[in-house]
Amino acid sequence: MSAPSTLTLRRPDDFHLHVRDGQALAAVVPFSAARFARALIMPNLRPPVRTAAEALAYRERILAALPAGARFTPLMSLYLTDDTPAGEVERARASGCILGFKLYPAGATTHSDAGVTDIGRVHGVLERLQETGLALQVHGEVTDPRIDVFEREARFIDTVLAPVLERFPRLRVVFEHITTRAAVEFVLGAREGIAATVTPQHLLMNRNALFAGGIRPHHYCLPVLKSEADREALCAAVRGGSPRLFLGTDSAPHARSAKENACGCAGIFSAHAALELYAEAFEAIGALERLEAFAAHHGADFYRLPRNEGRVRLVRSPWEVPASYPFGTGEIVALRAGERIGWRIEAVERP
Ligand code: NCD
Ligand code: ZN
Repeated sequence: MSAPSTLTLRRPDDFHLHVRDGQALAAVVPFSAARFARALIMPNLRPPVRTAAEALAYRERILAALPAGARFTPLMSLYLTDDTPAGEVERARASGCILGFKLYPAGATTHSDAGVTDIGRVHGVLERLQETGLALQVHGEVTDPRIDVFEREARFIDTVLAPVLERFPRLRVVFEHITTRAAVEFVLGAREGIAATVTPQHLLMNRNALFAGGIRPHHYCLPVLKSEADREALCAAVRGGSPRLFLGTDSAPHARSAKENACGCAGIFSAHAALELYAEAFEAIGALERLEAFAAHHGADFYRLPRNEGRVRLVRSPWEVPASYPFGTGEIVALRAGERIGWRIEAVERP
């Protein structure tokens, strides 16, 4: 059978997206709105988005930054801190557009210093989340400097995630941006109510990409790229079509000057071609027929949202990613900058 030259999908959702604020927001959000019907917006601004009121205000700024005619719904997550009052959960639920709370272990990643220092500090909030059915979105890495950076996800499963799931047996959890065989096995074998997002970079690249011909800051993100065996485990899992796995790009823009730096920031910007990159990844593993459910069904179903109406059509038509895109007063270097991507978005039908 020859490879298909077009691919028509139900309009997809991105369930893990960083769009920042201000000029940066205006620069990046149109890319996501051109591809996705909805996105779950991450709350790690400075200061973080901690309350329902702050999330609703941020959501208005996102809507105001959309290009004319865009049909794009931001869904929100609140930044969990040691001091989050349990009552915030009810305010979040009542808002109708907040899907859950994001657990950043303090110090785990970009703008996580206000995160949770000890999971015991938030047991009250987890109790309320479990009661309301809102989700806990988890950055699943321990931060102990004695733990090897490549082992932090696996260690988090054993020391934090598994005990939490046992203590709160009805808590709904999304293990964000999973990167390892250990995480795949854990999620696929876990009780009901557990799911995971998978990024394009962790399907397409292994850790060699950090050092290909020299140090490559634009391939640095957290969780960091892992081994080829881990990448293969992720690919095999999405090829298997588990409804527990769904699309979350973790597109995380930083200015070129913050990436190409003696202490470069973590984060890969992929929103300029997110769906196209997933199409490439799925095609490479012979699983193009699985892309629609991964991108447009599993996440919506997990979050108990209606699947989107409308369609997006991809065509096989290679194009070169620009060397950079404007980003406020600076510029941003996107994934594959100066290189080709095999798929292009040809049409979007927005009902
Ligand atoms: C994210 C960012 O820059 O906000 N960075 C990243 O490497 N993924 C934070 C995060 O999701 O860890
Ligand atoms: Zn992220």
